[in-house]
Amino acid sequence: MTENHTKQPAVPPKIWAVGGGKGGVGKSVLSTIFALWLVRMGKRTIIVDVDLGGANIHTLLGIKNPPRTINDFITKKYPSLEDICISTGVENLRLLSGASEILSLANLQFAQKVKIIQGLRQLDAEFVILDLGAGTSYNVLDFFLIADRQIVMLTPQPISIQNSYAFVRNAVYRKLSRITSQKPGLLAIIKSAMDPKNELNVRTINELFRVIRRDGGPDTADFLKKELATIQPALVTNMARSHKDKNAGHIIQLVSEKYLMIKPKDLGGVIYDNHLNSLVSGMTPLTQMDPSSEAFAGMHDITIRLI
Ligand SMILES: Nc1ncnc2c1ncn2[C@@H]1O[C@H](COP(=O)(O)OP(=O)(O)O)[C@@H](O)[C@H]1O
Ligand SMILES: [Mg+2]
Repeated sequence: MTENHTKQPAVPPKIWAVGGGKGGVGKSVLSTIFALWLVRMGKRTIIVDVDLGGANIHTLLGIKNPPRTINDFITKKYPSLEDICISTGVENLRLLSGASEILSLANLQFAQKVKIIQGLRQLDAEFVILDLGAGTSYNVLDFFLIADRQIVMLTPQPISIQNSYAFVRNAVYRKLSRITSQKPGLLAIIKSAMDPKNELNVRTINELFRVIRRDGGPDTADFLKKELATIQPALVTNMARSHKDKNAGHIIQLVSEKYLMIKPKDLGGVIYDNHLNSLVSGMTPLTQMDPSSEAFAGMHDITIRLI
C-alpha cells in the first residue's frame, strides 16, 4: 500500500449527488453530462456509480466490463477507492464503477457505507459526481445528505413531481432522525410525524418544530433548525418538452418551503433531446454526443450554477 492510500488530499473534492424518486428520469445520463461538462471546464472529475445493483454509467461511457468495481473495495480486495477508479478515455475523467450483481445499495451495511463515504472524501479529484440510482432507502438518502451539492432530478409528469418531493421530504426526516438518534423521545416524535396521518396532528415541519420546542426545549429546536438549513436541494427538471415544463421544479420549491421549511433551488430544465436518446438506445458512448445538441448545451448553465 502506498502512502497515497490513506493521505487526505490537500483540498477534499466537492461531492455532487444526483438523486430523485424514480428510475428513468435521467439521473445516470445527466450525471454523466455533468461530469463531461466539468472535465471540459478543466476540472479533474470522478463519476461514481452508486447504483450498485443497476450500475450503467460504464455503458454510457462505452466501457464494457469495468475491471474493478466498488465491490472490490467492500470485499477488501483493494484498500482504497482510489485503487478502484478506472480511466474512461476522457482526459481528467475517471470512473468508480458500481457494477455488481451481488450487492445493492439498499442492503449495504452501515460500516461499509461509512467506509465508502470516508473514501469518497479522500479521492484525488476536484469534483466527485455520485449517481445515486433510484429509491429512497436510508443508504441512498445518506449519500445524498453528505454531498456538497444535492441534486434532485424530476420530469414534468405529476407523478415524478410527487416522487421527487417525497424524496426531499424523506431526506429531511432522515436528517432529523440521524441527529436525534441518541434521544429516543425526540426520535419517536420525528418518526411519528413522518406518517401524514400521525396522532400528534403534525402536518408540516413548522408544526413538528412546535412539538420539538415544547418537548425538547428551545435549544434543541434551534439546533435542529440549523441542521435542517444544510439541506439545500437543487432541482433539475429533465425531458422538458415545452418552456412551461421547465417550471416543474418550482412546484417542489413552493411545497418544500411551505411544508418542510427548506428552500430548494430550482435550476430549471433540460429539454427532451432525440439525439441523446438515440445515442443511449444505440449504446453509443455519451462522449460522442454532439456538444451543440439541446440537452448537452442546456446543461452548461446548470453546471456553472452548481459550481
Ligand atoms: N433529456 C433527455 N432527452 C431524451 N432522452 C433522455 C433525456 N434524459 C434521459 N433520457 C433517456 O431516458 C432514459 C433513462 O435515463 P437514465 O439516465 O438511465 O435514467 P435513470 O438513471 O434516472 O434511471 C434513457 O433511455 C435516456 O436515453
Ligand atoms: Mg440510473
